[in-house]
Amino acid sequence: MEFLNPILFVLILSSSTIPILSFSHFSPTDHYLIDCGSTLKSTVDHRIFLSDSSSSSSLFLSSPRSFSLTNQHPYQGLPPFYNSARVFEMPSKYEFQIKDEGTHMVRLHFQAFTSSDLDLIRARFHVLVNGYVVLSNFSGVSAVNPRIKEFLIWVGTETLEITFVPVKKSKFAFVNAIEVISAPKDLVADSAKYLSYEHSGNVDGLSKEGREVLYRVNVGGPKVTPFNDSFWRTWVPDDEHFESNNGSKKVYTTGRIKYQEGGASREVCPDNVYNSARVIKSTNSSIPNTNMTWTFPAINGYNYIVRLHFCDIASISIGFLFFNIYVNGHMAYENFDLSTAANWELSTAFYLDFMVSGDQQGVLRISIGSSNQSVPYAIDGLLNGIEIMKLNNSLGSFDGNLSTEMILKRCQGNTINLVPYIVILCLVVIVSLMLRQKVIRREDSFSWSKLPVVDSWKVKSNMGMGIVNS
Ligand SMILES: *[C@@H]1O[C@H](CO)[C@@H](O)[C@H](O)[C@H]1NC(C)=O
Ligand SMILES: *[C@@H]1O[C@H](CO)[C@@H](O)[C@H](O)[C@H]1NC(C)=O
Ligand SMILES: *[C@@H]1O[C@H](CO)[C@@H](O)[C@H](O)[C@H]1NC(C)=O
Ligand SMILES: *[C@@H]1O[C@H](CO)[C@@H](O)[C@H](O)[C@H]1NC(C)=O
Ligand SMILES: *[C@@H]1O[C@H](CO)[C@@H](O)[C@H](O)[C@H]1NC(C)=O
Ligand SMILES: *[C@@H]1O[C@H](CO)[C@@H](O)[C@H](O)[C@H]1NC(C)=O
Ligand SMILES: *[C@@H]1O[C@H](CO)[C@@H](O)[C@H](O)[C@H]1NC(C)=O
Ligand SMILES: *[C@@H]1O[C@H](CO)[C@@H](O)[C@H](O)[C@H]1NC(C)=O
Repeated sequence: MEFLNPILFVLILSSSTIPILSFSHFSPTDHYLIDCGSTLKSTVDHRIFLSDSSSSSSLFLSSPRSFSLTNQHPYQGLPPFYNSARVFEMPSKYEFQIKDEGTHMVRLHFQAFTSSDLDLIRARFHVLVNGYVVLSNFSGVSAVNPRIKEFLIWVGTETLEITFVPVKKSKFAFVNAIEVISAPKDLVADSAKYLSYEHSGNVDGLSKEGREVLYRVNVGGPKVTPFNDSFWRTWVPDDEHFESNNGSKKVYTTGRIKYQEGGASREVCPDNVYNSARVIKSTNSSIPNTNMTWTFPAINGYNYIVRLHFCDIASISIGFLFFNIYVNGHMAYENFDLSTAANWELSTAFYLDFMVSGDQQGVLRISIGSSNQSVPYAIDGLLNGIEIMKLNNSLGSFDGNLSTEMILKRCQGNTINLVPYIVILCLVVIVSLMLRQKVIRREDSFSWSKLPVVDSWKVKSNMGMGIVNS
């Protein structure tokens, strides 16, 4: 409960009118907020990020060569943890103790800055999480905006390990902050409607698949920050993804959003997303034959989960809203009847999951259009929120064609434990010295050239130098 400080708690108890009341229900079992490379903890929106150098039994940093770096010219207006970083010169890992089996959110924060010793922009590295390659050959971290990478990883073991592996040439990796939080149990649905040209139908068993969260969009509404989200997420406005359409309009409600069994919960998506939308509306007897369309980049070789959030905050009465849903050009639902889905109540939260494959065009399109059951003088299409998530490829990667094994093999020259070789070497030297003494004492002379010292040095240096650059 480190995120609920006493002041906030009093605030919640003393005022039932402030909106944060509704966000205080979810308390995750595993909840790690780490300010990497900092000596002090930092606080962001009442959330306390602990220093990774503070000793804690449930967090373990094993790093043969790491150091912390502080920004001499701190960024104003950014959370304070972006002004410190932990830099790794060798493969290093954070181990988090996991008490709650299930999906965990892993969020990594990167913000470059220059210090007298190092320019973080030059970093290039891989990041592994429990066997998944979450970032590969990662670079291009900018000093302009933080890069935030978020993953949903199912954890069935007692630890979650985040490993940073510098690409040899760059010689270092870094991170500013890490969040590891148990996800709400209903966040990741097990099935989705699969849409493709060959066949369509339901796919199951998705709840244990790893996901990278690429986009969370609050359709028709403002940015929602972690402070205003039940699970500390960020939702961005849809303008960047929306294809201009003058047949649609934005709507907003201040009324209460209802959550029902079988629909969405507040942890799945907060009020702040459901209380705004874009709609297609007919003001006269003719129904506009139009689509609202949003586009997102999506690349070949990955499957994507598209989650669409609906909440009818626009209709005057229930039972008149029907529309078509298209995902990637496929008819995902024809004459979708939100009233029935939402149990015949307005302002009720509901979502649908789809799975599609990225294609050559590199674009994922989502359209909401009026249908031939749409009703005149009514709302004829509506959408409140969009989430786009990438599933890992068959190599267990979200980022290219290297698997965890390949990455670890490549850097084995860096990580190999030299201690046994050194011990053997010392033994050999001692034994040979003893032998030599004996030999000298006996004034005998044999087998000098057979001493294995040279050979074992060769073994050692082969192990040390046989590094494949990546
Ligand atoms: C939270 O949302 C309210 C409106 O719902 C808004 O006025 C406020 O600025 C938001 N706070 C943050 C930190 O985003
Ligand atoms: C719709 O928008 C386009 C530009 O995006 C504009 O040229 C056109 O006049 C608009 N139509 C109406 C009916 O407003
Ligand atoms: C209905 O309204 C739209 C604009 O909202 C207009 O373009 C259209 O001509 C109207 N149709 C009729 C039959 O009045
Ligand atoms: C809406 O989009 C779908 C899928 O892209 C397309 O088949 C349909 O023709 C579009 N409808 C309109 C009115 O543009
Ligand atoms: C509704 O439109 C679809 C094409 O989008 C068509 O196949 C179907 O027959 C239409 N249904 C009715 C009742 O008109
Ligand atoms: C995702 O990665 C896991 C672990 O490496 C693997 O078991 C699974 O098959 C991968 N998913 C796909 C769709 O290839
Ligand atoms: C990964 O491999 C696939 C097929 O082997 C190829 O189409 C794709 O371009 C590769 N991706 C990268 C990032 O190299
Ligand atoms: C890593 O990225 C750099 C530049 O972005 C590229 O030149 C290099 O080929 C990449 N390496 C691998 C193994 O993909």
